[in-house]
Amino acid sequence: MIESITILSGRGKQGISETVRRIDFKMGDVVSIVGPTGSGKTTLINDIELFADGTTPTGRTVLINGMQPSSEYRDNPACNPIALITQHTTFLSDLPVHEFLKAHARIRSNSDRGSQELIQQTLDFANQLTGEPIVLTSQMTELSGGQTRALLIADATIICNTPIVLLDEVENAGIHRTRALELLRQYKKIFVFVTHDPRIALLSDYRIIMRQGCITDVLYASEEERECAVRVSHLDDLLTKMRDKLRYGERLTIEELEGVL
Ligand SMILES: Nc1ncnc2c1ncn2[C@@H]1O[C@H](COP(=O)(O)OP(=O)(O)OP(=O)(O)O)[C@@H](O)[C@H]1O
Ligand SMILES: [Mg+2]
Repeated sequence: MIESITILSGRGKQGISETVRRIDFKMGDVVSIVGPTGSGKTTLINDIELFADGTTPTGRTVLINGMQPSSEYRDNPACNPIALITQHTTFLSDLPVHEFLKAHARIRSNSDRGSQELIQQTLDFANQLTGEPIVLTSQMTELSGGQTRALLIADATIICNTPIVLLDEVENAGIHRTRALELLRQYKKIFVFVTHDPRIALLSDYRIIMRQGCITDVLYASEEERECAVRVSHLDDLLTKMRDKLRYGERLTIEELEGVL
C-alpha cells in the first residue's frame, strides 16, 4: 500500500543546491507545480515517474513510504503505481476509443462484464470533463485535444487506477478544470498537476514553486486565496463564455462584464 511519496532535494540548472530539502506527498493530496516556462516543472515530474535515485541530471531522490522504491515498480509495468499524462499527447494508435479502453480494462478486470462497466464509467467520467462528448466508435486519432486529455485522465483514474497520477499541463485543451478537481478529489490518490492555470493552482492543497530548475518554495493555499479561487473561477468562466461568443460570430456587450469586473 502506498501512503506517501517523498522528494529529496537535488540541484538546479546552474548546479545550485535546492533550499527545500524535502517534500512529502500524502495519499489524497492534490498538488500543483508552478513556475515560468523552462523552470523545470516537467523535469520534476519526470524525476517522480522515474523514481529518481540521485542519478538523474537534477540529483533528486524519490522515496515511496519513506524508503527506496522496490525495483518491481520500475521493472514490471503492471506494478507501476504511477500514471503520467504528458504535455504533448499524440497517439500512434488509431484504434477506436472502445478498443483502446477495452485493451486497458481487460488487464484490470477478469470478467467481460467487469470490463464493460469500467469502460462505461471511464467514458462517463471523461464526458464530464470535456464540452464535446466522446463517442466510443470514434478513432483515438480523431479526438480533439480536450477529448484526448479527458479520456487519458479518466483512463488513469478509473481503469489504470494507479495511486499516483501526474498531469503535465492538462488545461491547454478545453477541460472543465473546477469540475475535474472536484471529481478527482473523490478518489483518494496523489494528483500532481503541472500547471500555468490559476484556477488549478488555487484549488490545490499546496503548490510547489520552481525557478531555474530548482524547487524554491512550497506554498499552502491561504484562506484569502481560497476566496480568490472563487472569484478567479468566475472571471475564467466569463472569459470562456466571451471566447465562445467570438468564435460563433456573436457580439460582446459591456453589460456581461459588469457584475464580474
Ligand atoms: N534541475 C535541473 N538540472 C539540470 N537541467 C534541468 C533541471 N531542471 C530542468 N532542466 C532542464 O531545463 C530545460 C527546461 O526544463 P522543463 O522542460 O522541465 O521546463 P518546464 O518548466 O516544464 O517548461 P514548460 O513550462 O515550457 O513546459 C530542460 O532541458 C531540462 O532538462
Ligand atoms: Mg513542461
